[in-house]
Amino acid sequence: MDNRLIVALDIFEEKKALEIAKNISDMVFAIKINWPLILGSGIDIVTKLSRFTRVICDLKIADIPNTNSLITKKVREKGAYAVIAHAFVGEDSLKAVVDSAGGAKVLAVVAMSHPGASDFMEKNVDDLVAVALKSGADGFIAPGNNPSMIRRVRERSMNKPIVSPGIGAQGGNAVEAVMNGTDYVIVGRSVYESAHPEDVVGDLNWQISEGLERRPGKYEILNL
Ligand code: XMP
Repeated sequence: MDNRLIVALDIFEEKKALEIAKNISDMVFAIKINWPLILGSGIDIVTKLSRFTRVICDLKIADIPNTNSLITKKVREKGAYAVIAHAFVGEDSLKAVVDSAGGAKVLAVVAMSHPGASDFMEKNVDDLVAVALKSGADGFIAPGNNPSMIRRVRERSMNKPIVSPGIGAQGGNAVEAVMNGTDYVIVGRSVYESAHPEDVVGDLNWQISEGLERRPGKYEILNL
């Protein structure tokens, strides 16, 4: 089975990002990048990292349809395997991302891992999942440090994969997240702040395997 670990490289320096990516590329499903690396290194970092593995652009796209479409086309042109967009902006905006993705996968954020997620997102998670499904998104981002929220999304997800950050630095546990329905785990700080990223990645892969083994049969393992 493919690796199911996605490493988030939330650093500014291109050199460090490329070095880590090179060392762990055959142990991960993808590298996820966010604004810090793009602002620090420029958008061509997408193409450079793509030489090692898949790249997921976590720009949390959340604008009007036309702007969403322009952003999505640009990151796709640079080689992104997937993009992450917010569902809360509504069906037309998220659909613009899907329609512009040109084969890249679209992951919709429907719940988040930080405490502030309870202010708005958690109260509206069912509606956000419905928006994501109507828009044709390929999968969901749901918090790996909140097992009951993972199960809630899983029950409404129409067999589309769940990808979960919130493991490690934000308190979540990879075994538990995967047992509760997460298909891919995102980890950032625990890997890139470590003196031995390869060792941490190896350990996380072991935890994901353990979670898959202990996962109830009702949660089919889904691919992105
Ligand atoms: P850490 O260092 O916490 O990094 O392992 C996690 C990465 O994932 C992003 N992140 C989220 N993205 N919904 C999202 O769409 C979330 O709930 C969420 N929590 C964390 C974060 O920006 C970082 O890149």
